Amino acid sequence: MSDSSSSSDLRPDLEESINVPEAHGALKDDPAAGREKSLHENGMEAVSLWLVLISAVVVLVGGSVMGQGGSFFGYGELTKDGYMRGKSPVPLPTVAVPEPALAFLQKQGAKVYSNCSSCHQPNGMGQTGQFPPLAGSEWVLGNTEKLALIIHNGVAGQIEVAGSSYNGNMAAVGANLSAKELSALMTYIRTSWGNDASIVTPGMAAAALEISKQRGGGQTNSEELKKSHDKMLPGDILAPDTLLDPETWEPVASEE
Ligand code: HEC
Repeated sequence: MSDSSSSSDLRPDLEESINVPEAHGALKDDPAAGREKSLHENGMEAVSLWLVLISAVVVLVGGSVMGQGGSFFGYGELTKDGYMRGKSPVPLPTVAVPEPALAFLQKQGAKVYSNCSSCHQPNGMGQTGQFPPLAGSEWVLGNTEKLALIIHNGVAGQIEVAGSSYNGNMAAVGANLSAKELSALMTYIRTSWGNDASIVTPGMAAAALEISKQRGGGQTNSEELKKSHDKMLPGDILAPDTLLDPETWEPVASEE
């Protein structure tokens, strides 16, 4: 152990009596002091140039490695090609958006009309002397029971349509239509090409199929239709904007 005076000789900066800033201040004008590294506050020291260079290399190399891997900046890992959501273990409620009756039946009926358009034409005008028109036809616009029978059973023989006489033969083109399809088709031809008659509901069409069944098979003709079937099919007339459930084709219960 050495005494305090000798230790202060060796390491004067530890001597309490020496004021370090003051001592440095005295050296200020000494040119050597200018070459001294100046002191910074903690945390504000200059960063080593080497550290800056090494960081730059790490960023460049690391960035290029990640970029070349291809997938790091892509979403490919997050999506799978052809992914299909599995079937829900619980039955999900199907929400069918109700549609206005007229628009809905017209849309469905237009598809069914593809069975008819080769003869009666897409514009409903038929072909002069051969196929009578549906546009402006009293058979289409008038009572619905005779119209349903024409479609379901076919019609033959002399028939007056829109002021012209025809004597042709139409097979039972609509024999296999369901009540829904028949109602949509009848609604379509009754409300297209300037025709403006009432909607035929699936219920009315079902009644027509029943009437046809009781009548028995075979084509009908103008005379029979006028004599026995010049009636409206039973059922309430549906307002065009009544909302229908597109699944059941039934009017949806009103909210209130
Ligand atoms: C192969 C041609 C042909 C096809 C297909 C056909 N019709 Fe006809 N249609 C005729 C002919 C011909 C007559 C006239 C029959 C007669 O002279 O007795 C007729 C008559 C009618 C009539 C009564 C007269 C009139 O013009 O209003 C209606 C209604 C009618 N067809 C609707 C339809 C509907 C609906 C379809 C589709 C489901 C259809 N037809 C498919 C040839 C066809």
